[in-house]
Amino acid sequence: MKTLKAALVFIMAVFAVFAAASAFAAEMSYDNGTFTVSGLDGEAKLIQVSYTDGCLSRVKIYDVENGETNVDAVAGDKLFLWDGLDTMRPVAFTLSVPAPENTEKNILIAYFSRAGENWQVGYVEKGNTAVIAEYISDSVDADVFEIAPTVPYPKDYYETIPIAQRERQNNERPEFLGEIGNIDKYDTVFLGYPIWNGGLPMIMYTFLEQYDLSGKTVIPFSTHGGSGWGSTLSELRSLCPGAEFIDGFSTPGTNARNARNDVVRWLEGIELPIES
Ligand SMILES: Cc1cc2nc3c(=O)[nH]c(=O)nc-3n(C[C@H](O)[C@H](O)[C@H](O)COP(=O)(O)O)c2cc1C
Repeated sequence: MKTLKAALVFIMAVFAVFAAASAFAAEMSYDNGTFTVSGLDGEAKLIQVSYTDGCLSRVKIYDVENGETNVDAVAGDKLFLWDGLDTMRPVAFTLSVPAPENTEKNILIAYFSRAGENWQVGYVEKGNTAVIAEYISDSVDADVFEIAPTVPYPKDYYETIPIAQRERQNNERPEFLGEIGNIDKYDTVFLGYPIWNGGLPMIMYTFLEQYDLSGKTVIPFSTHGGSGWGSTLSELRSLCPGAEFIDGFSTPGTNARNARNDVVRWLEGIELPIES
């Protein structure tokens, strides 16, 4: 009896050594959905792969041989190399599938622009500032939010002027459509607008009073009919206390459609605090 027990222990020990040796000789790696096992020795036909989300609720078994095996694991899954014996012990490696790259954008382009009849540009389907916003978003990986008025401004230029004047005189806050889900996730905000009456269109006040940009980097861009920035930069600074400002981009509205290269050069020249 004693001899039998000793023999059994011996056999189990041999198995354990065999399993450990064969498995540890193997290597396992995971890259982008492909699981690679290499270095299995010819006798170690017992290898299987399973993976789980940690609570063993989604275990799948893959038969593998030397080479690549596609597994449909997702981020956080752990992959185990089993010894394939009845005990199915994980004998070698535990590998976590890496989390996918963070695709959340941390740059926002928020702009207001009025389409329709435009100063010295004629009738346009897309406003001048919207064109600049598009050039920026072509170069920068950012979310884009159009600050679109709930009550659209007239298409007619001369009808729009007195409305804009009234809004400014009365310190109005024209409403805009939609909302930004989570402003906190943005580190950098490009802010675009046309110059109206030498200053910011009042809808920019509505926007900036709704969203707190303190602690963020604000990068203004603007189109105008000859005034340059007007008073807008100082208005922005008082509307965005605690924000850091980077030199912006301003161009006459008549030049907007030719400004793609200027925009790209400007973007290359400013140091975005966040890689895009
Ligand atoms: C109501 C209104 C007021 C404007 N006031 C000025 C102004 O004070 N100074 C200026 O240079 N341009 C002024 N403009 C011209 C616009 O700034 C210019 O056409 C701009 O490119 C329009 O941009 P958008 O198409 O994105 O709205 C005004 C335009 C409008 C409609």
